[in-house]
Amino acid sequence: MSKIILTGDRPTGKLHIGHYVGSLKRRVELQNSGEFDKIYIMIADAQALTDNADCPEKVRQNVIEVALDYLSCGLDPQMSTLFIQSQISELTELSFYYMNLVTVSRLQRNPTVKSEIQMRNFEASIPVGFFTYPISQAADITAFKATTVPVGEDQLPMIEQTKEIVRKFNQVYGDTLTEPEVLLPSNAACLRLPGTDGKAKMSKSLGNCIYLSDTEKDVKQKVMGMFTDPNHIRIEDPGSIEGNTVFTYLDAFCKDEHFGLYLPDYQNLDELKAHYQRGGLGDMKVKKFLNAVLQEELQPIRERRKEFEKDIPYVYEILRKGTEKAREAASKTLADVKEAMKINYFDDAELIKEQAEKYANQ
Ligand code: TRP
Repeated sequence: MSKIILTGDRPTGKLHIGHYVGSLKRRVELQNSGEFDKIYIMIADAQALTDNADCPEKVRQNVIEVALDYLSCGLDPQMSTLFIQSQISELTELSFYYMNLVTVSRLQRNPTVKSEIQMRNFEASIPVGFFTYPISQAADITAFKATTVPVGEDQLPMIEQTKEIVRKFNQVYGDTLTEPEVLLPSNAACLRLPGTDGKAKMSKSLGNCIYLSDTEKDVKQKVMGMFTDPNHIRIEDPGSIEGNTVFTYLDAFCKDEHFGLYLPDYQNLDELKAHYQRGGLGDMKVKKFLNAVLQEELQPIRERRKEFEKDIPYVYEILRKGTEKAREAASKTLADVKEAMKINYFDDAELIKEQAEKYANQ
């Protein structure tokens, strides 16, 4: 069986380093591993509209931002198909058929939908489109017969729901769809990178993000202002690394080699942590180290972005070509689905013959 990746992001803002360690970096590694037969990376603008109906312009403007972030991280259009969700009407059509296989109460139990409803104060007035987006996400995944979906932890319930839809479809209509597997980050810090303020999640509205497109100066400033251990007041005080954002970021980004380069007094992160916990290590020194580590990772991304920014029409052209390719794959799956559901009337010679005979014999 071929190995196929599908994943994507809602274009509601520039991507940040939480997206990067949570999924983007992994995608690039998977792409370069050569282990996958096909890789589809989707800019989920239609999904973004399900909770941004009033701000279509925000979504429209951010499509290119996400595309630039993808390309600058090293997604290569020769190896990965980058495309825009709304341009593939087959996905909407699939969603419509899958809707019959899912109950309202099952959607209400989806933990991601639940917490998003709370976050957006939708309790009293949930848009139907938003409520049903897990079904559309199942369409995204199955349209490409994806076997592997690399995403952040918050997307787990979506993949669970997709699996259920696949099983139900195959059970009712015969084996047609492929059940996907989720691929989560292996490192706990990468699973859910907190905001620079220590809050559970990076979010644009909280103003606690480090963006992939931030300048060197921005990154440094944000790192220097990061949340640490509020009880670690004097350098001599023992410090805590639990919930200390600077150390969480180091867990996500730092490699042993970084010490030789930027902080040769220590061999590895465990030594640094031990010193901090003992007391005698100041926040500033740790932050400077984190800044060096982050800059090393972000510098090449920033430089590639600059290059792509010089030729925006070319970036749209990449998306157009990718979208055409993705549409071909999705339309094949839609044809399979309609055949399985026996709603392919005009291609169903058997049906036409059967009906003709029925009437001929009357
Ligand atoms: N829900 C994802 C997000 O919030 C975006 C997305 C849409 C997606 N369809 C998908 C991710 C299919 C993986 C697979 O960013």
